[in-house]
Amino acid sequence: VEEILKPFRLSNENLKEISKRLLKAMEEGLRNKTVGSDHPSIRPSVKMLSSHLKERPNGTENGGFLALDMGGTKLRAYYVEVMNGKIKLEPKSKEWTIPQELKNESGTQLFDYIVKNLGAFVETLKLEGNPKLPLGFSFSFPCDHKSLYKCFLTKWTKGFKCSGVERKDVAKLLREAIGRKGGLNIHPIVMVNDVVATMMSCEDENCQIGMIIGTGTNACYMEEMKNVGTEDGEEGQLCINTEWGGFGDDDSLKDFLTEFDKNLDNESDNPGEHIVEKMISGKYLGEIVWRVLLELKEKKLLFEGSVSDNLRKKDTFETRFISEIEENSEKNGLENADKILSDLDLKVNSTDPSLVKMVCDTISSRSARLCAAALVTIANRIRTNRGLPHLKITVGMDGTVYKKHPNFSEKLKEALRTLSPECDINIKVVDDASGKGAALVAAVAQRLCGQ
Ligand code: BGC
Repeated sequence: VEEILKPFRLSNENLKEISKRLLKAMEEGLRNKTVGSDHPSIRPSVKMLSSHLKERPNGTENGGFLALDMGGTKLRAYYVEVMNGKIKLEPKSKEWTIPQELKNESGTQLFDYIVKNLGAFVETLKLEGNPKLPLGFSFSFPCDHKSLYKCFLTKWTKGFKCSGVERKDVAKLLREAIGRKGGLNIHPIVMVNDVVATMMSCEDENCQIGMIIGTGTNACYMEEMKNVGTEDGEEGQLCINTEWGGFGDDDSLKDFLTEFDKNLDNESDNPGEHIVEKMISGKYLGEIVWRVLLELKEKKLLFEGSVSDNLRKKDTFETRFISEIEENSEKNGLENADKILSDLDLKVNSTDPSLVKMVCDTISSRSARLCAAALVTIANRIRTNRGLPHLKITVGMDGTVYKKHPNFSEKLKEALRTLSPECDINIKVVDDASGKGAALVAAVAQRLCGQ
C-alpha cells in the first residue's frame, strides 16, 4: 500500500520546487499579451487575467444590488443591501442545483435557465417595480475581461460543455436571455470571477488574496500595475485572477504526476487542461481515490481482491465520502468508511476501512499541501513586490473542499507554517462569498462609473 501511495506524498522540498515553478509560470502569464489565444504554444498555463478591479469598497457605496453566483454545481441568486461600503443585513438568497444534462446543452438553454430562476427570485422579493436593478454576476470560469461589463469566456472548465458560449461575451449572453424573458429591468451587469468576489467580500483591510478550493480551484491577489504587461498604466494595483488551476498544462508538473493523475486526465472532458485543478479540487478528489482503490483491489490488498458492479462505475466514489471517512474522531471515520464501502456492495474485512482512510488522507493531504504551496508563492510575490522582509496578510477563502473536509484547513495551515516563515498568512472563511462579493463589485462599479 505504501508503495502505491508514495508518489502522492509531496515533501517540503517538493513543495518548494513546485512553488518556484509556479512563480515562473505566474511571471510568464503577467508578461503575456496573447491571453485570449487558442493556440496552445502561445497560451500561458497560468493565465493571470485582469479583473479590471483596482479598488475595494471605500465606504461611500450605497444601494440594493442583485447578484448571481454560477459555480460548478450550484446557481445562487442574492439581493444585497449595501450601506457605506458594507453589507447591511444577511442577504436574501435562493439556490438551485444546476441539472447535469444542462451542462451539455446549448448556451441559450443555459442562460434561459439562469434567467428563469433569477426572474422567479426577483418576483418573490417584489423588486420588479424598482426603476433598474444593478447586478453583479460571479461567473466561476476563466474569462478574458475587456472591462467590468464585458468578459469573454476563454474555456469551459469543471465539466461544462454548453455550446456557443466559449469566446463569447458572457454579460451579453445574460442580457440577451433577460431580453428574451422580458419584464426584468436589470442594468448594468457587472462581471466578476468567483475568486475575485471572494476576496472582495472579506471585510479585512489586510485581505489582498482570494482563494477557492471547491469544485474547482483558483486564487487572485493584488499585483502592482507596473508588473502587468497585459494592461496599460503603471500606477497603483490591480486584482489579478491567476487561474492557477491551469498550472501544469505546459508539462511543468510532469515529474509530480502519478499514473492515477495521468489516467484521470486522459479520460477527462478536457485532457491536458487544468492539470493542478485535477490534483486538488472537489470535482476530481473522489475519482483519484476511486482509481487508487481499484488498483489496491487489483493487487488483492483490499476487498479480498473482488470488486462490485457499483465500484466499477467512475463516479461512485464521491468526494464527500473522503470527508466522511476522515471524520475527526477515529471511530466515526472508520464506521463511516465501513458503511460507505458496504453500501457499494464491497466485501469489507476488518482492516479495509483503515486502509481506505489512509488512501483518503494521502489524497486530501496532497491537495491541501499543493494549495499551501500556491498561497506561499502568492504571498511571497506580494512581499517582494513591496520590498518587505516580513508580510502579514489575510486570505479570503471559500469552497466546499476547504469548508466541509474535517481537517483540510489544518493540513493546509501546517504546510503554510513550515513553507514560509517570512509570511504570516491568516485565512478567513466568508460565507456566501461569491454572492456578497459580486454585489460589492457592482457597488464599486456604480461609484466609479455612476451607472
Ligand atoms: C475556474 C475558475 C474558478 C475556479 C473556482 C476553475 O475551474 O477556471 O475561474 O474561479 O474553478 O470556482
